[in-house]
Amino acid sequence: MNNIIPADILHETNGIVARRLGCDYPENRLDDLERGILAMAREYGIKDSTEGIIKWLSDFTWGTTELNTLATFLTVGETYFFREKAGLDIFRKHIIPGLICKRRYKDQYLRIWSAGCCTGEEPYTLAILLSEMIPDVENWNITILATDINNIFLEKAKAGIYSPWSFRETSQLIKKQYFNNSGKNFEITPRIREMVTFSQLNLADEQYPSEVTNTMNMDVIFCRNVLMYFNPDQLRLATRRLNASLVESGWLITSAVELNDDFFHDFTGTPFEQGIFYQKRPGKKEISAPYIAKDHLQGSVNPGKTVTGRLTKQYNTSPIKRGLFISPGKVHAKENLTLETVQLLFDNGRYSTCIEKCMQLLTINSFVTRSLTLIVKCYANLGKLPEAHHWGEKLLQQDGIDAAAYYLVASILVESNEHELAQQTLKKALYLDPHHVLSHFLLGNILYRQDKKNLASKHFRNVRELLATFEKDEMVPGSDGLTAGRMIEFTERI
Ligand SMILES: C[S@@+](CC[C@H](N)C(=O)[O-])C[C@H]1O[C@@H](n2cnc3c(N)ncnc32)[C@H](O)[C@@H]1O
Repeated sequence: MNNIIPADILHETNGIVARRLGCDYPENRLDDLERGILAMAREYGIKDSTEGIIKWLSDFTWGTTELNTLATFLTVGETYFFREKAGLDIFRKHIIPGLICKRRYKDQYLRIWSAGCCTGEEPYTLAILLSEMIPDVENWNITILATDINNIFLEKAKAGIYSPWSFRETSQLIKKQYFNNSGKNFEITPRIREMVTFSQLNLADEQYPSEVTNTMNMDVIFCRNVLMYFNPDQLRLATRRLNASLVESGWLITSAVELNDDFFHDFTGTPFEQGIFYQKRPGKKEISAPYIAKDHLQGSVNPGKTVTGRLTKQYNTSPIKRGLFISPGKVHAKENLTLETVQLLFDNGRYSTCIEKCMQLLTINSFVTRSLTLIVKCYANLGKLPEAHHWGEKLLQQDGIDAAAYYLVASILVESNEHELAQQTLKKALYLDPHHVLSHFLLGNILYRQDKKNLASKHFRNVRELLATFEKDEMVPGSDGLTAGRMIEFTERI
């Protein structure tokens, strides 16, 4: 131990690190923390003297940028291609084939997230596996989001150049097929590199699930050898947020050794030959009947039937398809549906029932805009993006639609990787309301990802100007809980 930083200050910083970065340093590893802080101090031009460090730390504000810098000195970068076969086998043999069967010739999309991706070996492994498994992979809309807190790791990941050590579990055949020689090293082929999108995300932060970070409706999340460093409180919060980032029945793949079941109440542990893997419990968020007047539920829930099945029927037969929304007598008078009822169903995550009830409202031409909005959101939250888009188009055909509706449809288009269409839709939102913060923010994000940095910064500047009068912890209207401070920070960081 260097013993340059006094114990009380080190413990205090340890508390901040635990809360904000998730990881906890027990007494016997405090020297690692001290080493990290000292290395960071050196980067800030501070000498390794107790006096200098105390002064520096006492004036210091741990903002996101500073924490991210500290993270580059504290995080462990151990990873390699095709690491831990067990999780990859479950992905390859059990999870992906089912999804392919379900979505082939329909919407043909997959959403995968490597959370704590380090230098990229894990997400590139997943991209290679998907290319191997799906012969017409170019006809699929595949999202592989790869995030890490450590920007230095992410830069290396984006460069995609690896030393032989990263290939200790990789067959020669795969190496030959998916990598090009680059001196002593190997560079990932452009086709695989393009399948992965890297971005910085702190798993101990509330940046997910969110449309802004593109972390919603994931089919599979790989979060291996990351959460093992988290303290129990942060671990509980992180598993809860990861659960919320998954579609119903989506999978969270962790490392076999890292966690115990206490942190997985929201998941069903499915035993395989290779170990136990966690699947989001279907209908987890569904509340029980007492919250809702009984009359509203009678005869309305049919758990055996899928939403898609019901929808197909509606498409073929209902007047909704013709845009009439009038079908007198279809709603049982006794049901006395109100906007509050459907909103409550939505707020409690009863998306399938909410859709059904909204459709009933539409058939009597009641609360059309609101019902369509809820239907779109429900489908989006169920991960049924084509349906969400379809109903979004209907929403936009209504009279008097505002910027928020265009923004909603645009965010679904972003999730469906329809970036061009999303941009056009956001421009319409901003035409209707040039002060719509979320539309500026989302458009800025799309442009940034397309490397149109100047245009992106124009929209981020608008975000900051529009939020200038907000308190830091004030919610941004319509953002489902994002604070003004967080949004400003995000634009500044970019
Ligand atoms: C040991 S590596 C695991 C890499 C890969 N998942 C694997 O299993 O091979 C752990 C990664 O978690 C990242 N990490 C640690 N704390 C994090 C946090 N709070 N948010 C996001 N990433 C974090 C580290 O930067 C590091 O890249």
